[in-house]
Amino acid sequence: MAKQDFLSLLDFSFEDLNYLIARGKTMRQMHTAGTTYQPLRGKTGALILQMSSTRTRIAFEAGFAQLGGHALFLSTKDTQIDRGEPIEDLARVLSEMVNIVMIRTANHGDIEQLAAHATVPVVNAMSSLLHPCQLLADIQTFEELRGSIRGATVAFIGDGYNMCHSYINAANRWDFKLNIAAPQGFHPHQNILTSTANARLLEDPYEAVQNADLVVTDVWSSMGHEVETDNRRAVFANYQVSEQLLDAANKDVLFMHCLPAHRGEEITATLLNDPRAVVYHEAGNRLHSQKALLEFLLLGPVGY
Ligand code: CP
Repeated sequence: MAKQDFLSLLDFSFEDLNYLIARGKTMRQMHTAGTTYQPLRGKTGALILQMSSTRTRIAFEAGFAQLGGHALFLSTKDTQIDRGEPIEDLARVLSEMVNIVMIRTANHGDIEQLAAHATVPVVNAMSSLLHPCQLLADIQTFEELRGSIRGATVAFIGDGYNMCHSYINAANRWDFKLNIAAPQGFHPHQNILTSTANARLLEDPYEAVQNADLVVTDVWSSMGHEVETDNRRAVFANYQVSEQLLDAANKDVLFMHCLPAHRGEEITATLLNDPRAVVYHEAGNRLHSQKALLEFLLLGPVGY
C-alpha cells in the first residue's frame, strides 16, 4: 500500500473523507458497545508534540492502544529535535522504527518537510496553518446529530487562523456554505479563503449566523499568541459567541468549539451549559475519528 499523509483535508478525496466519517461513527458505536477491535497489534506510532495538547494527545495515545498498537509520546525538548537534528534525518530515522508519525508544531513547513522525507504516513496533529484532525471530529459530530452537512450553513466566528482555515477546506470538500465573521487584521489567508466559492468573509457575527445550522468559534489567542492576549480581547470583543447570538441562527443550530475554551472571552460564561453546545460529544469524537484515521492510513479501507 502506498503511503498517504494527512496534512490537510485537501490531501484526501471527498470519498475518502466520507469513508472516514462513516468509519468514525462505527468506531464510536464499537467503543460504546465495549467491542474489542485490535487490528493495529504490533504497530507503533510516534506522537511528536511541540505544543501543549490534551485532546489530540489522548485521542492518539488511547486510540492507538485501543486498536492494539502503541503510540510513543515524544516531546521535542526530551529528544534531539530541540537540539537541532535536521527534520530530514528525523523523518528517515522514524521511518526505520515506527509505522506512522503524528506531529504538532507551529511551522506547517516542518510537517511538510517531515512528510516529504518519511516513508511512513505523517499526520498533522495541528500546525499554525491547519487542524485537519479536529475537522474529522466536527463533521462526524454534526452528521451524527443532524445528518449530512452537505448544503448546510456554518458560521465561523473569531480568529481567521488554523481552525478557520480547516473549516474553509471542509466547506470545499463537503460542499457546505461557510460564513466567516472575523475582525480586520485577523482574516484567514486570502489564498485559502478564495480556494472555494463556498466561503465568504463578513464583519458582523449576527449576519454570519443567519440561517446557520452550526456555529463554531475558537480561542482569541491561540498557542503562540499569548503575549497579544490583552490587545486581542479588545479587538475581538464584538465576536463573543453568546446564547443571544445562537438565538439569531436556525432553531436547531449546534455550537462547537475545539476546546480548550476561555469562558468570558470567545464564549459567554454559561454557553457550554446550553443544550445547543455539543462540545463534549465533539471532543469525544476526536478519539473515534482519529482511530478511523489511524486504521485507514495503516491498513486502508476495511469496510463498514
Ligand atoms: N482541540 C484540540 O486540538 O485540543 P488539544 O489542543 O487539547 O489537543
